[in-house]
Amino acid sequence: MIIWDKFVRVFHWLLVLCFCFNYFWLEPGSSIHQAIGYSAAILVLMRIIWGFVGPDNARFNSFLPSVSGIKEHFSELRQRKVRQDQGHNSLGGLMVFLILALFLLQAITGFLREEIDALYGDSLLTSVHSISADIIFSLVIIHIFAVVITAYVGKIELIRPMISGKRRIKRHD
Ligand code: HEM
Ligand code: HEM
Repeated sequence: MIIWDKFVRVFHWLLVLCFCFNYFWLEPGSSIHQAIGYSAAILVLMRIIWGFVGPDNARFNSFLPSVSGIKEHFSELRQRKVRQDQGHNSLGGLMVFLILALFLLQAITGFLREEIDALYGDSLLTSVHSISADIIFSLVIIHIFAVVITAYVGKIELIRPMISGKRRIKRHD
């Protein structure tokens, strides 16, 4: 069955590339770093619009985090039967919102310390920019770990749908 539409998939892998370029590969603060950072922010803004107008699984209201949703997800994991017809589970949804917000924070702090004269080179903004990049990195490690563990424990295909869009349904018996 189709889980992720093309927009979500292209968005995801482009965001991964933007992060890797800015965190690992490019000189921090260079003009190409700034261009890629703003591109990431534009991707996130487009994703936010898609969260309201896109197909059901891409919509924010289909994965708003809630305590009951998170409990339910853990109980599904204990039974090794994670629901296969949904997009993000409640806990995954929480991670998505955090990551999207932190990318916007990167662009805002980067913009302010670079383009606003009164704040040029401001050390607080620079620290926030740098710490928030490290937080994104930590969340990404947890994210990848969570995807792999959930797929294995919950017996559900997660990575393939983010590449081809489709999930092969596994029988839970
Ligand atoms: C994908 C989003 C971004 C990520 C992951 C990111 C990450 C980073 C990291 C890890 C550093 C090094 C911080 C340190 O030395 O401790 C840095 C520095 C910097 N970033 Fe970004 N950044 C992003 C977006 C932006 C944007 C949109 C701008 C816009 C102006 C920007 C401007 C800068 C500048 C000027 C520095 C140099 C700060 C200094 O002099 O130490 N960044 N960034
Ligand atoms: C810098 C690295 C990464 C970032 C910033 C990132 C960010 C995200 C975001 C924002 C989403 C939500 C997608 C949406 O609804 O629009 C997501 C979902 C997902 N990501 Fe990543 N990701 C990263 C790396 C990876 C890697 C390396 C993998 C493969 C192992 C991966 C696998 C997935 C999967 C399978 C989902 C869907 C999870 C689900 O079914 O609920 N991600 N990621």
